[in-house]
Amino acid sequence: MLACEHLKGTTVMNTSEASVAHPELPAPVPPRGRMSVWQFLNALRDSTISTFSQDAYELDIVHRKVLGRHLFVLSDPVAIKRVLLDQVANYEKTEITRRILEPGLGKGLITLEGDTWKAHRRTMSPSFDLRSVASYTPIMTAAAEELMASWRVLDAGASVDVADAMMEVTLRIISRTMFSSDSDDIMSIMGHAAGRYQATVLPNILDLLGVPEWLAGLGRSRAARRAFAEFDTVIDRLIESRMREAGNAPKDLLARLIGARDEQTGGGMSATEVRDHVITMFMAGHETTAMAMTWTWFLLSQHPAVEAKLHAELDEALGGRAPTQDDLAKLTYSRMVIEESMRIYPAVPAMEREALAEDTLSGVRVPKGSTVMIVPWVLHRHQKLWKNPERFDPERFSPEGCAARPRFSYLPFGGGRRICIGAAFAMAEATILLATLAQHFQFRLVPGHPVQPQSMITLRARHGMKMLLEPRTATARVGGGGRL
Ligand code: HEM
Repeated sequence: MLACEHLKGTTVMNTSEASVAHPELPAPVPPRGRMSVWQFLNALRDSTISTFSQDAYELDIVHRKVLGRHLFVLSDPVAIKRVLLDQVANYEKTEITRRILEPGLGKGLITLEGDTWKAHRRTMSPSFDLRSVASYTPIMTAAAEELMASWRVLDAGASVDVADAMMEVTLRIISRTMFSSDSDDIMSIMGHAAGRYQATVLPNILDLLGVPEWLAGLGRSRAARRAFAEFDTVIDRLIESRMREAGNAPKDLLARLIGARDEQTGGGMSATEVRDHVITMFMAGHETTAMAMTWTWFLLSQHPAVEAKLHAELDEALGGRAPTQDDLAKLTYSRMVIEESMRIYPAVPAMEREALAEDTLSGVRVPKGSTVMIVPWVLHRHQKLWKNPERFDPERFSPEGCAARPRFSYLPFGGGRRICIGAAFAMAEATILLATLAQHFQFRLVPGHPVQPQSMITLRARHGMKMLLEPRTATARVGGGGRL
């Protein structure tokens, strides 16, 4: 049965109607028995999170054979650490992941392997360290304030699709961080390309059957070329002109990538390499944060007590003004809310690796060539690792809560050597968006709007997230009249 026919809690109540402290949160009901191959493939094409059976949420490791391939779903933190860190050389990204992503992303950090990945990661890391991220935060605050201003002129009772709004604001932030004043044209070209590409990159049955890439991926490569043609031309031209006028160019992320040198070899990156990294950052760096924020607004709308505590922190720390880099350390509860939201609805719901040689994980033999899945969606709801995993409770992320948990049991940004390079960027961005917008607005679901998580590459809201914007009446910060 498909996930969409099989969901609990898809139409969610507004909090005014909700009578329980712990509302049921939308998620596919895991199948109890084994799915047939066709059920599995159908479910996979519809939403990958609906393919995980109940035992995956209860056992350390689950083994399936799908179309002749061994597939393991791993939820034992010790074994996950082995895959992502201790024996990382034995576990590469899978051929299917590469097939799906490379036609669009080229050879960026996400798709590279081996020594080339290592050298590029080393070269790029300084552009994403805490000091660099601090230099990007004014862009984040400005974009959040612009969004707020655009909402303020809406009529009272207006509704917005918060998923779309979050996509737009995060696209604006990554565009300005990357290209400063050149960002406006590029942003709309990239927005279209990303949308078109996402719609055509799904794994097909030929990939799963192991049919050679040139045959299975024919349509995909063409679609990628079409989707990114205009973007490639614009970016190539921009990189070329930036390389020529290196001294005068703005000090944005693009300039940092062009000027980055490997601390070991002193080498830099070619124009093509920079372009592939730029596309990767765009694709990896906006939809993920947008989805994390979309789910956060939804969860807050369902949990008024958490929302009230968040408001109290924001009012005390900021008193209505926009947050800056210096405020981030004070916004501890805001951070806990985001972390708990990414536990329940992780923006990247699954990661895959291929075992290059036989190994043993959680006492189970894993043959060479097996696919090993690490699934934050499952791991974050695992019965052995979390108490009442289906409940939204930011207190889990208090210092004591974090200290009590095993490492590698919470992986919204992945873990080990290939942990998300943009994690600090994303956390700063999410905290600034949350703090800026939540000070002035409360979001309430449009009555009857269906909420369903759907996972392809990221965890989206299948029908978007239509919400009513309500000014926070308790404060004097809100504009008057019939306007927000
Ligand atoms: C809430 C937001 C984000 C989430 C949940 C997220 C999640 C992840 C995850 C789970 C991985 C690891 C994938 C794997 O091991 O297979 C990853 C890798 C990556 N992310 Fe993020 N990400 C976010 C934001 C960002 C941002 C803002 C950027 C860049 C501006 C970014 C760039 C990347 C890159 C380049 C990689 C590949 C790193 C490597 O393999 O060396 N991400 N991300």
